[in-house]
Amino acid sequence: MAGALALVASLAVAAVGTASTETAAAPAVKPPNVPNAKALKAKYGGSSLTFLGDGPVGKSHTRDKLLVAKFSADTGIKVKLVPHPADSSASYSQLARTFSGKSSAFDVVMLDVVWPGAFAQYLVNLKPALAREARAHSQGIIRNNTIGGKLVAMPWFGDFGILYYRTDLLRKYGYSSPPKTWAQLGTMAKKIQDGEQASNPNFYGFVYQGNAYEGLTCDALEWLASSGGGRFVDNGKASINNPRAIAMMNLQRSWVGTITPRGVTTYQEGEADSAFGAGNAAFMRNWPYAYAKSQTGPVKGKFDVTVLPRTGSNPSVGTVGGWQLGVSTFSKNREAAIELVRYLTSAPVEKFNAIYNSNVPTIPAVARDAAVRKVNPWLKPEIANVTRVTRPTILGTRYAQGSQIIYQGLNQILNGQDAKNVLPGIEQRLNRLLPR
Ligand code: GLC
Repeated sequence: MAGALALVASLAVAAVGTASTETAAAPAVKPPNVPNAKALKAKYGGSSLTFLGDGPVGKSHTRDKLLVAKFSADTGIKVKLVPHPADSSASYSQLARTFSGKSSAFDVVMLDVVWPGAFAQYLVNLKPALAREARAHSQGIIRNNTIGGKLVAMPWFGDFGILYYRTDLLRKYGYSSPPKTWAQLGTMAKKIQDGEQASNPNFYGFVYQGNAYEGLTCDALEWLASSGGGRFVDNGKASINNPRAIAMMNLQRSWVGTITPRGVTTYQEGEADSAFGAGNAAFMRNWPYAYAKSQTGPVKGKFDVTVLPRTGSNPSVGTVGGWQLGVSTFSKNREAAIELVRYLTSAPVEKFNAIYNSNVPTIPAVARDAAVRKVNPWLKPEIANVTRVTRPTILGTRYAQGSQIIYQGLNQILNGQDAKNVLPGIEQRLNRLLPR
């Protein structure tokens, strides 16, 4: 799985790196028609499905509502939409409970890019029905979602970490470009915060995902990999206890309460995008979805995005994220469920998702579409070609446990402990989980 994920990174990059020659079409802001609706209505009309969809973060749940309403209107298949928890770690536990209880509560489920291995046994093989459709997606993600020869999920949207910054405030404080290094980010965030706090006590320099959950694993992977501090596990062995990782984690600790709100140690994606979107932060680390969300409020027209900072000669990086759609083996309406997945992961829906919710397309042709690129500047090669780093899926079915060891330990550092006292314990515990 780890190898496949590395490929996800390189293929997605190759896909968006190709210049588009298409002409701009009118933005597809409405969910597209279901192509085979008549046949589906005849076969499955009146039946019911439950879709465990996206959480209440940004416009994602609204996106799902619009799509599901369109699918139901066109096909007569009723779809109950249940949002999963906003917290990916809580979503993982919810699915683990659902599957181990053999529950048929959900027919179609959303799966984080790091889960296919853990849940493969509970997911229907989509290859017989969707092999042709799968060929249009980045093959690295298809490989990531293929476990023991079974295509256990279809790619739904991708993700990678980016830096959001306020263009108006950079100008106001005399900066001509966003920070290239973490040290520059620290200096700029402090200066802007000191100036802005005079009139807005809620203003902070930098917000990100510091809560003890999966998001912190993603953010910290970026901090470490962009500073020569490794990727938690390197060459099959835990590597997190190294001088550069210690220095970087202690730098982040020193920023909590100085250039970040004290509460950043409880922030997930939603708290970060609320602060930035309300105009209360100069810089934010988040995923592309927050781009569309931030266009809807007071910072509209006052921000831009770029790659995350780095240290020294290390590269800027972005953690690979993203979500898949799978069908539960406990579903009582498998065939109709597969049809919902076929629709939701089709090129026209990915285009809608990218324009409506700035979701990263997993279909290269959609990523090249001029109308998509026009409203998603993070698809520009200089951002989209950033080095992608993957979480240690070498942990296999123990990934969630390993990530928990990482984020709980790192959250203790952000809350005040010295990294040199915490990282050795994380390293030991990770080594115990790794395959020998
Ligand atoms: C985003 C990513 C996902 C990651 C999560 C962490 O949803 O797509 O891969 O696990 O954030 O919070």
